[in-house]
Amino acid sequence: MLISVIGCGYLGAVHAACMAKLGHEVVGIDVDDRKILQLSSGRAPFFEPGLEDLLREQLQAGRLTFTTDMSAAAEGEVHFICVGTPQKKGENAADLTYVDAALGALLPHLSADDVVVGKSTVPVGTAARLAALVSAEQPTSHLIWNPEFLREGFAVSDTLSPDRFVYGVSSGSEDDDAVRKLDEVYATALDSGTPRLVTDLPTAELVKTAANSFLATKISFINAMAEVCEAAGADVTQLADAIGMDDRIGRKFLNAGIGFGGGCLPKDIRAFMARAGELGADQALTFLREVDAINMRRRTRVVELARDLCDGSLLGKRVTVLGAAFKPESDDVRDSPALSIAAQLQLQGAVVTVTDPKALANASRRFPELHYEADTSAAVEKADALLLLTEWQEYRALDPYALVESVSSPRVLDGRNVLDAAKWRAAGWTYRGLGRP
Ligand code: UDX
Repeated sequence: MLISVIGCGYLGAVHAACMAKLGHEVVGIDVDDRKILQLSSGRAPFFEPGLEDLLREQLQAGRLTFTTDMSAAAEGEVHFICVGTPQKKGENAADLTYVDAALGALLPHLSADDVVVGKSTVPVGTAARLAALVSAEQPTSHLIWNPEFLREGFAVSDTLSPDRFVYGVSSGSEDDDAVRKLDEVYATALDSGTPRLVTDLPTAELVKTAANSFLATKISFINAMAEVCEAAGADVTQLADAIGMDDRIGRKFLNAGIGFGGGCLPKDIRAFMARAGELGADQALTFLREVDAINMRRRTRVVELARDLCDGSLLGKRVTVLGAAFKPESDDVRDSPALSIAAQLQLQGAVVTVTDPKALANASRRFPELHYEADTSAAVEKADALLLLTEWQEYRALDPYALVESVSSPRVLDGRNVLDAAKWRAAGWTYRGLGRP
């Protein structure tokens, strides 16, 4: 099929490359010249495992092109809206400027029977408003809301083999031309048995925000348990293992630590609360305020623990932060708890060095005042304390016996509870985890 993908960020660039991989002819469109230039030459503008190889393969196969010219969408019959919906400045609500601009720019290029597919995460009610704009422009064109559930770090495989498809359509019915067209786009995954649910527009929008709210709640639940474990002298990792064996609960997303960050969970729960307020249903979501508060408290707690670890004062202490990305296998530092903790430590007088395998360029743009060192050995040299804040495999695999020689004081704070505490202690380290004795 002929497809256009509007917005080539973390979502759109991956979506465009994956749609080409499925055999479609795809044009990726973005307003950012630099991004388009990079993508056209087979370079990913951000780190995502497997993306660059896929881009090169599909560019070479001639199925994938990138442009800043929206008129290229005129060729397409299915148009995916993949632009960002960041948090509004100074407010909890989502900023829909990019979604509105993308659709506004696409409308004049729509042809009869085209399908516009919304993938961005939007406040419930947005899709119905956009659907009306589409049918006013082209009465035989339709809008489908098809939320994206990909995780950064696994974006390519999540896009090619998602665990489900959700289609929101105005009719709420499967018997719909737009549904048939989107089925054709996703035929490979559907043929292999991926479930597909057809809903009305508001339900599809809510599926995404509800899913992210549930995940955020699960993480904050276990972090709240970590607070209690700390007070009671219990171990939250064993607690999570034990409750996770109940398959009604499940062990996934029960890793206590410095909390969630990234471009999705924090802003999505806030936008959801703001939208519920507009709908008069704010009471239903007041618990998300607590979820957010527990999460933000983790960051303060780590700063306090780091101070304890440094004998009660951070002033002039050399602290090395291992990890800047909001999670491993990503260079994304949007609302990264690791980076926000690093900045706090610096403000409180510590001499902070931050290292990360992939995220240093983004981190230094976000917090230019911090000191960055790409080489792990150089970063830990003469440190008074190490803080493992993003659980990259190379940090999990650090050898405490070798490392003890390079640091000034062997003290480690394991912000993700991934190190073998007994082994680090045996190697002479003062080890602190979160929610562990
Ligand atoms: C999330 C959703 O998982 C995805 O479905 C949605 O489409 C976008 O938002 P992502 O932001 O890529 O994906 O990251 P995710 O893997 O969900 O992790 C979010 C944050 O939670 C990270 O900062 C991670 O470190 C943290 N986390 C995750 C925990 O602190 N504990 C856990 O047990 C799991």
